[in-house]
Amino acid sequence: MKLAISAFAVLVLVICCVAFAAGADRSHSMKKEIFGAVQGSSVDLYTLTNAHGIEVRATNFGGIIVSLRLPDKNGRMDDVVLGFDKLDGYLDNKAYFGAIVGRYANRIAKACFTLDGVQYQLAANDPPNTLHGGNKGFNKAVWKAEPFENSNGVGLIFTYVSKDGEEGYPGNLNVKVKYTLSDQDELTFDYEATTDKATPVNLTQHTYFNLAGEGRGDILGHELTLNADRFTPVDKTLIPTGELRSVKNTPFDFSKPTKIGARINDKNEQLELGHGYDHNFVVRRTGNSLELAARVHEPQTGRVLEVYTTEPGVQFYSGNFLDGTITGKQGHVYKQHFGFALETQHFPDSPNHPDFPSTILRPGQGYRSQTMFKFLVEK
Ligand code: GLA
Repeated sequence: MKLAISAFAVLVLVICCVAFAAGADRSHSMKKEIFGAVQGSSVDLYTLTNAHGIEVRATNFGGIIVSLRLPDKNGRMDDVVLGFDKLDGYLDNKAYFGAIVGRYANRIAKACFTLDGVQYQLAANDPPNTLHGGNKGFNKAVWKAEPFENSNGVGLIFTYVSKDGEEGYPGNLNVKVKYTLSDQDELTFDYEATTDKATPVNLTQHTYFNLAGEGRGDILGHELTLNADRFTPVDKTLIPTGELRSVKNTPFDFSKPTKIGARINDKNEQLELGHGYDHNFVVRRTGNSLELAARVHEPQTGRVLEVYTTEPGVQFYSGNFLDGTITGKQGHVYKQHFGFALETQHFPDSPNHPDFPSTILRPGQGYRSQTMFKFLVEK
């Protein structure tokens, strides 16, 4: 009898150990497969899954986040980012779905800037301005990818060398962007860069969200909070005028949760110029280096996205240029406002605005920036 009891105890112990080990294995995982090829370079697709089943698929082509599956308040998983099923869709993706944007995210006026007395001419790919790095920005580069796994999550380290003169920018720029999906349901982006000549640098991530699920209508019912008292109004080519304007009593005041669509059609010069929201907001700083810049809540599914950043600005873009000409995943047609982006960044056109926080990186200095997306559910 005694023997039977102790044999039973040993069996229970063994089962517990096996279950624990399996649980540990399930905490997070990483899978790599071939996504396709770009100009002879093989491109991979990595699937990162965390302990709660949140799944990010990313490729080393442009560092693009191809899909992001999040639970809703009932535990239902949906892909909440716009994009394509196959690599082909991304090759000439004018919307920058999911990509790392650089060397200079956002616009530089008249595709031109002067640095240390030298004038540099860039591609006017958004006439008359340069936009998001020019004709072949970082979103179209094949990055080197190195997967990693630690006790807290899984991730990818993307590296890319942008050659001196690439897209008209000076200096060989070594760029490193680390994506980490943690078991605390955070997706963190750590950006680093060094250069051998002074150059402007402004890096961001251009994921478009629809927290109800991609392809499921517009995002006008999403409730947005922006931690910003001021924004940078623009001219008719979407270049900041230089003013930091108070959001008070304007449709740009998102200091309390407000539906994106509540005022988007108001008669307002800035909304007309942007065809909706396409503006840089000045993040209110309270002394934290990683500051909450934005929070978005989708009332039907309860999904919440929080955006934290070390950057001084965030471009809130309400998907204004989506016009039904892009067919994305599973044949979904992306119409106006079917997705929004929150692009953490330095202010647009900073190289031509000495009053804005500087974007100039010099030899011997290190560019560092961090942004974190935190995913939650509100019942
Ligand atoms: C940014 C810009 C927009 C637009 C999109 C991409 O958000 O500010 O004007 O160019 O990228 O379509």
